[in-house]
Amino acid sequence: MSDSAETRRLFFSLWPDDVLRKKLTVNSQNAIQHCEGRALVPANLHMTLAFVGNVAVDNIPELEVMADSVTMQPFSFELDHSGYFKRPQVLWLGTHQPPRSLIDLSDTLVQGCRDCGYKMEERPFKPHVTLMRKVKHNCPIDVTLVEWLANEFVLVESRSTPDGVKYDVLKRWQCE
Ligand code: 2AM
Repeated sequence: MSDSAETRRLFFSLWPDDVLRKKLTVNSQNAIQHCEGRALVPANLHMTLAFVGNVAVDNIPELEVMADSVTMQPFSFELDHSGYFKRPQVLWLGTHQPPRSLIDLSDTLVQGCRDCGYKMEERPFKPHVTLMRKVKHNCPIDVTLVEWLANEFVLVESRSTPDGVKYDVLKRWQCE
């Protein structure tokens, strides 16, 4: 690792295409109507696989090379219920039956980041799509089922802007 001063806040993620994003947005609209909190803008809906945090710009290629070595087979799952993380006050969409390939993909990326020297989340991966933040109490919603066919993962930069958080996809890794 180099200690270049300039950093980027990065994470690996599943990133919905436009059709899928519309289906996710149906659920976030429902949440906005029934729950108090701050909704993610539709463009920001995603499923984090491995949150890396601040990465020196000079070290981004190393992470990309690590991701090059990760093999991914296509998989699918259904987002079928809402849930709530009390401490971060997050309302989310989740899946009762996460496929093994989804868990493995996250675990492999997390371990790859660790091997590159990053301190990663220790808790087991809990796949979810955050719909709203700053939700004070659980607020279960009737979920419109969303099937997610995953055939790529991406590296995303998170930036704070005067208009809120913006996510930029930096690179994509597609299934062969
Ligand atoms: P979330 O979906 O539960 O909000 C970018 O910040 C993404 O990385 C968010 O989707 C966020 O999870 C996830 N993430 C995981 N660990 C994080 C951390 N320690 N700080 C900020 N975001 C984190």
